[in-house]
This record gives sequence, structure tokens and C-alpha cells, in this order.
Amino acid sequence: MHVAGKKQMDEFIFARVLHVLSVVLWIGGVAMVTTVLLPVLSQTKTVSERMVFFERFRCRFAAQARYTTLIVGLSGFYMVHVLDAWHRFMLLNYWWMHAMVLIWLVFSVMLFILVPLAKRRQLLEVTEQSLVVSEKAFVKIQRMHWILLILSLITVAGAVAGSHGWLMFGV
Ligand code: HEM
Repeated sequence: MHVAGKKQMDEFIFARVLHVLSVVLWIGGVAMVTTVLLPVLSQTKTVSERMVFFERFRCRFAAQARYTTLIVGLSGFYMVHVLDAWHRFMLLNYWWMHAMVLIWLVFSVMLFILVPLAKRRQLLEVTEQSLVVSEKAFVKIQRMHWILLILSLITVAGAVAGSHGWLMFGV
């Protein structure tokens, strides 16, 4: 580790605290949407009613997730820099480092590019009330959330195990 003194060590630990707190808020929110909100919504009468509610919920969550993903990314790359751990991206037993960056990229593209684009299109073309989607599209949204949640949880498990010394695939 490239740790010069106690001050840098404390800064590193602070970055780790921020990193984990932001991950908890962000992935915890994804877990809530996937395991509670979407199943409850799927029992709501019409698909368009569900989508109106879901869109409102998602807007609020997206606003907060933008901050948490930003903090996760900044604290994460800061830790890679302090640990001088760039070489890990070349090693298979650090698969959880790749997984962290991948999950972060997927969410960042969604939050900072796809959601704003979709919102703009929506504002131009239709009002919220006329949002019509098929039952099939709603099932697809649910499936997407499950996939992202499972991948995120595998990443969290791998990152906790790996950063505390349990490296799979030998070495
Ligand atoms: C740009 C994206 C990211 C980077 C560069 C990054 C980088 C890092 C680094 C360098 C560490 C410390 C590793 C060590 O001590 O050996 C770490 C720990 C960790 N990261 Fe990330 N990370 C990123 C995104 C994520 C995401 C998206 C998640 C969750 C899905 C996540 C969850 C964790 C967890 C749970 C730990 C372990 C903390 C601990 O047990 O002390 N990270 N990350």
C-alpha cells in the first residue's frame, strides 16, 4: 500500500466508510424496489396506473442514487490510487474489482444518460398520464431489476471477502 503516514491512512479509511455507506443506500434502494415495490405494484389494477406510480418513485430514487453512485465512484478510484491497485484489473482473482466497476458503469449510464434522455422524450411526446405500457414490458422491468440486484449482491459479497483477504481462484 502507498500509505505515507497516519493522515493518509485515516483518509483511506474515511474513503472506505463513505464507499460502503453509499453502497448501502444505493444497493439497499435497488433491493427495496425489486423485492417490495415492484411485487406490490404488480398487484395494482392497470399497467398504466403502475407505471405512473413507478415513474414517480423512480424519479425520486434516481435523484438520490446520482449522489450515491458519484460518491461510490470517487471513493472507489481514490482507494485504487492509494492502494496503487491498478494491476488488479489484470488478475482473475480480483474479479470483484471488475464487477464493482461494471455495476457502477451500468448504473451510471442509466442514471446519467438513459433516464434523462427518456425523461426528455417523455416530456416532448406524452404526458405522464398517458404512459401506456404492456404487461410484458412490466415483467421485463421486474426481471431487469432482479438481474441487477443479484449481480450487485454477488459483487458486494466478492468485494467484502476479497478486500479482507479471501481471494478465490487460488493465490
Ligand atoms: C468505480 C467503481 C468502484 C471502484 C473503483 C471501487 C473500488 C474499491 C476499492 C479499491 C475497494 C477496497 C479494496 C481493498 O481494500 O482491497 C473497494 C471496496 C469495496 N467496494 Fe468498491 N469500488 C467501486 C464500486 C463499487 C460498487 C458498485 C459496489 C457495490 C455493488 C462496491 C462495493 C464495495 C464493497 C462492499 C467493498 C468492501 C468494503 C469493506 O469490506 O471494507 N464498490 N472498492
